[in-house]
Amino acid sequence: MATILVYWTGTGNTEALAFSIADGVKQGGGACEVVKVSDADLQKTAAYDKIILGCPAMGAEELENTEFEPFYSALEPLLKGKTVGLFGSYDWGDGEWMRLWQKRAEDAGVSVLDTLIVQSAESGADETIAFGKKFA
Ligand SMILES: Cc1cc2nc3c(=O)[nH]c(=O)nc-3n(C[C@H](O)[C@H](O)[C@H](O)COP(=O)(O)O)c2cc1C
Repeated sequence: MATILVYWTGTGNTEALAFSIADGVKQGGGACEVVKVSDADLQKTAAYDKIILGCPAMGAEELENTEFEPFYSALEPLLKGKTVGLFGSYDWGDGEWMRLWQKRAEDAGVSVLDTLIVQSAESGADETIAFGKKFA
């Protein structure tokens, strides 16, 4: 079963991670469709068994609130029983947004297989590829 990766990006860092993670899925022998959240369809996304979601730290350690957070809120109840990964880029914080996001998901009954956070654009390809391979 193929994997879908849905992401939001402002300045391209999370987008770069997205494509590198998708390469990892492919290197692991899987297929991965990469979709910007503004182009994503809720039901189509929820039809996948493996769902990777990417959003950088925005606001004050929050998900981006005009496009990504509303999409995620609608998707979250549909994620039970799925293999889910969360990732994103951040800068000056310590990754708190991701801890909050993971806790929110797990409190909603979502089983998060793994998370990946990368400061700014300093992604070592090794970690994004390894992350993607878990969703192959
Ligand atoms: C409006 C705004 C709010 C941000 N808030 C945070 C934050 O709370 N914590 C943090 O670590 N980085 C924060 N950042 C930094 C971004 O997460 C960082 O620049 C990231 O690499 C952006 O990813 P992108 O290129 O995919 O948009 C913020 C950036 C912007 C523009």
